[in-house]
Amino acid sequence: MKTVLSGIRPTGNLHLGNYYGAMVNFLKMQEECNSFFFIADLHSLTTHPDPGMLHENVRNILSAYIACGLDPEKATIYVQSDIPEIVQLYLLLNMLAPVGELRKTVSFKDKVRQNPDNVNAGLFTYPVLMAADILAFNADYVPVGKDQEQHLEITRNYAKRFNHRYHVEYFKQPTAYVFGQELVKIPGLDGSGKMGKSEGNAIYLTDDPKTVEKKVKGALTDNGPEGQDTPKPDYIENLFTILKVVSTAEVVAHYENLWNTGETKWYGNLKKQLAEDIIKVTAPIRDRINDIKNNDAYLRKVTKEGAEKARERASKTLREVREIMGFKSF
Ligand code: TRP
Repeated sequence: MKTVLSGIRPTGNLHLGNYYGAMVNFLKMQEECNSFFFIADLHSLTTHPDPGMLHENVRNILSAYIACGLDPEKATIYVQSDIPEIVQLYLLLNMLAPVGELRKTVSFKDKVRQNPDNVNAGLFTYPVLMAADILAFNADYVPVGKDQEQHLEITRNYAKRFNHRYHVEYFKQPTAYVFGQELVKIPGLDGSGKMGKSEGNAIYLTDDPKTVEKKVKGALTDNGPEGQDTPKPDYIENLFTILKVVSTAEVVAHYENLWNTGETKWYGNLKKQLAEDIIKVTAPIRDRINDIKNNDAYLRKVTKEGAEKARERASKTLREVREIMGFKSF
């Protein structure tokens, strides 16, 4: 069975796009693979989160993922900072990390440009820590977005370099987990491209019904179709894309029909329906998030058991790596 591993940044909330995007894959992965999911709280330190907020951020994102269906019975779910073996491996991998390669990393160059006053060594070696996350579990696949592909490539370089330097075939070359073709891209409500946190056009799973209604109501529309069977402008197409995901086929057909016949003055109804159906999806998740978030005993159990499983695997790697590198006890 293949091992799949994914790190989740403890920043922000999950939105509808995450739910129908990455989440769908995570749920598939936990059924089909030996899967590891963790909250990358050590990585989040590069931006100096407020100590009072760090733990809450971890709690929120962990609760959200479990509420969406990540199952501690099926996957190993843990908090990165609970696994000291990752940090130790990170130090060892640093010796296989030429600074020239790190300096050329696009994400690093971007961050330097954005925040020239916060260029710390942790930021510089971010890819080394990520490689430690992955190699500690000798993962076969890592589901990553475009922005993380270079980090994965760097991980492969360390794996190769390690094998080469110590004349072993120890580390596998982790590859990007290719998401299914059927993956729906949820657009934003502002007529622009993808739904995203930084785009400010997202509906969050934690939004209350009133907020959802308000956001949907505010979605960009116009005066209606300008005739029969005309092509839809992007911002209208976007509303239909979301409708197709959250509503029934009948509802979609009804509004497609209104569009095609060229009728006008039904956008208000469409938005009402859309908001209602989004709420049908998000309300139960929102309730679950709140239940989990407020259940310390449950979260303690999940993270404790997750850390035990993860440490068992990671400590095996660390032991073997140390042995290969020549560390011995007296
Ligand atoms: N860097 C990833 C991100 O920004 C998070 C992450 C940390 C990660 N370690 C990882 C992802 C290991 C996959 C594997 O989204």
